Amino acid sequence: MHVMKKNIGIIGAGHVGLVTAGCFAKMGHHVVCADNDTKKIEKIKKSEMPFYEPGLQEMIEETCKNGSLVFVTTIAELAKKCDIIFIAVGTPSTEEGGADLSYVENVTVEIAKALTGIKKETADGEKIYKLIIEKSTVPVLTGEWVKRTLELMGPTGIEFDVAANPEFLREGNAIKDFMEPDRIVIGVESERARKIFEEIYASIKAPVIFTDVKSAELIKHASNSFLALKISYINAISQICERVGGDIEKVAEGMGYDKRIGRDFLKAGIGWGGSCFLKDVSAFIKLSEDIGYKFNLLKDVREINREQRLFVVKKAKDLLWNLKGKEIAVLGLSFKPDTDDVRDAPAIDIIAALLKEGASVKCYDPEASENMKSFFPDIVYCENPYSAAEDASLLIFLTEWDEFKTLDFGRLKKIMSMPHVIDGRNFIDAKKLKEAGFIYRFIGRDKA
Ligand code: UGA
Repeated sequence: MHVMKKNIGIIGAGHVGLVTAGCFAKMGHHVVCADNDTKKIEKIKKSEMPFYEPGLQEMIEETCKNGSLVFVTTIAELAKKCDIIFIAVGTPSTEEGGADLSYVENVTVEIAKALTGIKKETADGEKIYKLIIEKSTVPVLTGEWVKRTLELMGPTGIEFDVAANPEFLREGNAIKDFMEPDRIVIGVESERARKIFEEIYASIKAPVIFTDVKSAELIKHASNSFLALKISYINAISQICERVGGDIEKVAEGMGYDKRIGRDFLKAGIGWGGSCFLKDVSAFIKLSEDIGYKFNLLKDVREINREQRLFVVKKAKDLLWNLKGKEIAVLGLSFKPDTDDVRDAPAIDIIAALLKEGASVKCYDPEASENMKSFFPDIVYCENPYSAAEDASLLIFLTEWDEFKTLDFGRLKKIMSMPHVIDGRNFIDAKKLKEAGFIYRFIGRDKA
């Protein structure tokens, strides 16, 4: 398909920014990516990615080499070259759980300043037009602030629009999610802006939902909160299964066949983590409170998730009686498989609770050990699952890495001091555990 090449600027070389920059460049656009962290940019230029994302390094390398992607360290440079500017900087949590929008504000002010320094007309005498787009997850009404700031601080004589185009990228699957999305959501306020979006996304086949800016902002928070809700819901049902002897895996399967419910995100376990769900659910609760609505449903979603993590510790006590002085092996530290990310990983709360009970923890993760060391510098990090399990009284699985499915459970049983397993993600074959002679527990299916 013929792509109408556009000059696209991406501000922020984090997970969202880099993936967006690489994908637009791969689609044939000219892309400039800016980040004020000069060391980070130097490393990216040398093909050292700041995080692990499958396929990203190759894509950045290729698009830099063919000239469709360049990196800069100032917004001024980017604003000069690009008429379409995506803001993809971080929106971390404040202490009260809201979204810290100071990075978005700083970037907006920088854009306004940069526009002051550029020509107001093209060579053909046309007025310069800039489209400023929110890509990072922001609470509803942020677009209005961006617009107001640009109006107040930007130069007169330059036309611009503010739009929202939220991302729905999952870590570990981000490139595919960008190139083959379930939908593209675009909040615009002018035909001109709408047309630009049609052009930049022309080569992607997906339903495109055009809406106003506020609704687009809401779609992102409402979607992530709903996904978190779905997981908390199935985890609540897993608690009922535990109490009556049902099997949550069967219950989820039976529910999931109903197309109105769907099978995805009905996997029970120790709950959700990662850099997005807690941040977004909390920001949505705070925003709702600020505008006079008590979103108690979402407060419960968050509380169920917190309790679900600690449920593993209760199970450990049920198996071992006292945890004090016991050695416990933890396999899997990242918040989900195929990533080294431990931000808000359930493993953090669980390990902290085990240590508080007086247990000693040895752990193993194929990718995430280094990152976990900043939370727990003093626990033992092992090179493989077997050294973590040696002499342990209990083995707990916290992340469903593929390599754990094929462990030699006979060998594990021999090297452990007591034969106990807790599978916090319901992914180990119960038959294998039984055959090896383990006493084992799942979540919501202890009859398995
Ligand atoms: C999530 C959303 O899925 C993306 O659509 C969104 O763009 C992204 O946040 C974001 O806002 O940037 P991500 O955090 O990468 O993506 O991870 P998910 O794959 O959604 O998993 C989140 C957590 O839920 C993980 O801890 C996972 O183990 C857990 N989970 C997921 C379950 O416990 N059960 C399930 O059935 C599914």
